[in-house]
Amino acid sequence: MNYEEKLQNVSVLGAAGKMGSGILLLTAIEMAELQLKPENRSKTFALNAIDVSPAALTGLYGYLKAQVQKLAEKKMVQLRTIYKDHADLIENGEIIDQYIDDVLKIVHTSTSVESAYNSGLIFEAIIENSELKVKLIKQILANNKNDPWFFTNTSSVPINELDTNANIKGKILGFHFYNPPAVQKLVELIVTENTKKEVVDFALEYAKNLRKVIVPSNDKAGFIGNGHFMRDIIFGIKQANSLMNDMSFVEAVYAVNKITQDFMIRPMGIFQLMDYVGLDVCQKIMIVMKPRLNDNELHSDLIDKLISLDVKGGQNSDGSQKPGILLYEKGRVVAVYDPEKKDYIKIDTFQEKIDKMLGTLPSSYQPWKAVIGNKGKDKVLTEYFNELKAMNTLGSKLTKDYVINSKNIGLKLVSDKVTDKEDHVNTVMLTGFFHAYGPINNYLN
Ligand SMILES: NC(=O)c1ccc[n+]([C@@H]2O[C@H](COP(=O)([O-])OP(=O)(O)OC[C@H]3O[C@@H](n4cnc5c(N)ncnc54)[C@H](O)[C@@H]3O)[C@@H](O)[C@H]2O)c1
Repeated sequence: MNYEEKLQNVSVLGAAGKMGSGILLLTAIEMAELQLKPENRSKTFALNAIDVSPAALTGLYGYLKAQVQKLAEKKMVQLRTIYKDHADLIENGEIIDQYIDDVLKIVHTSTSVESAYNSGLIFEAIIENSELKVKLIKQILANNKNDPWFFTNTSSVPINELDTNANIKGKILGFHFYNPPAVQKLVELIVTENTKKEVVDFALEYAKNLRKVIVPSNDKAGFIGNGHFMRDIIFGIKQANSLMNDMSFVEAVYAVNKITQDFMIRPMGIFQLMDYVGLDVCQKIMIVMKPRLNDNELHSDLIDKLISLDVKGGQNSDGSQKPGILLYEKGRVVAVYDPEKKDYIKIDTFQEKIDKMLGTLPSSYQPWKAVIGNKGKDKVLTEYFNELKAMNTLGSKLTKDYVINSKNIGLKLVSDKVTDKEDHVNTVMLTGFFHAYGPINNYLN
């Protein structure tokens, strides 16, 4: 079966979720453009959007329509070529409306997994629950005669475990999109010893057509991205705990968040990033990773406590940030949650005091946005870290510890054979987490 044939009937499981909806959008466009080729017009392309939540599925067409419209506006030249023999389509608006119709008409929403029984390719993006993923895959395999292949978006479950437990016989790989899939360029590709060559070849062609940056990861729980991120979280929480000899919990969280954003020149502090991803999502990922990697460090009482108090973070449906360990107003951090008082404490009640304790940023400091767009950023970063190295403030010490720990995490991913190359760790953190510099660097040597 060639590339086009494999894409004639596709299903996305968990299609109404954060990741599933983005995977659905990208795949709908890829399939619609195949359908629109003159030689394919008599063929039927079908994309089943399957989710247990009927309410969430209802909003899916609206989401797809808005997203396809945005994309269409950016590629009018290509669309004019696609529709060149449609004499009736003259205005840009007419072409865009036709394109939206053509993309949307291949998508069929369903609350039943039975809709995947005719698919040759299935993207799995349901919640991070290994048993549930296995149960659904087994059910599809038992009823689907089309030799289905599975592309799972799992953040942490080893692919080999899904393969063995669901008896997929190598017709599975990890195709780990980053959030949101339509925007993020990075995909971690996890191929096991059993994965069939034709499945890998297809994945590479699909990724190329979607213009994704592929980084291969070995099949170890958490892969590269979460292998680094989860340990970075654990270190941030440890650092906050150690600061609590001299300051309160909320002050320590504020301090570490500032270190990991401003002092480290990252797009977000570690606690903000935890909120962005969702504390419950982080907890689930650690629950998968800890026993499989035999790493008792991969657990946080703080995260468990916050979740038990219903402090979870995550995103609202309009993309705005929900309250988590931090509280946000118009995207800015305004308060920190105090689990003892069960309330948020405004940062302006302690910010000045803690900023003074941390000390000033090096004078060569430039914010992340300025550094990331700077072609000479290596020079900028070298100067910045040289200056920081010579400082003896609390802020500079915490930053040095964090930078060194982040590098050690990266090196451990290589020595634990999660990846074969230091470069892969750096690419994942640069591309998937938008860091200005990879963790494996020599800035503090
Ligand atoms: N959120 C992220 O940043 C991110 C990034 C990369 C990978 N992932 C992984 O992607 C997967 C999905 O994560 P998400 O954040 O999109 O979760 P989500 O909770 O936003 O979406 C999951 C969807 O699955 C649906 N679902 C649950 N049980 C189902 C079932 N039995 N059949 C069909 N649908 C079902 C839910 O209704 C929901 O719409 C997980 O494996 C997660 O680890 C998440």
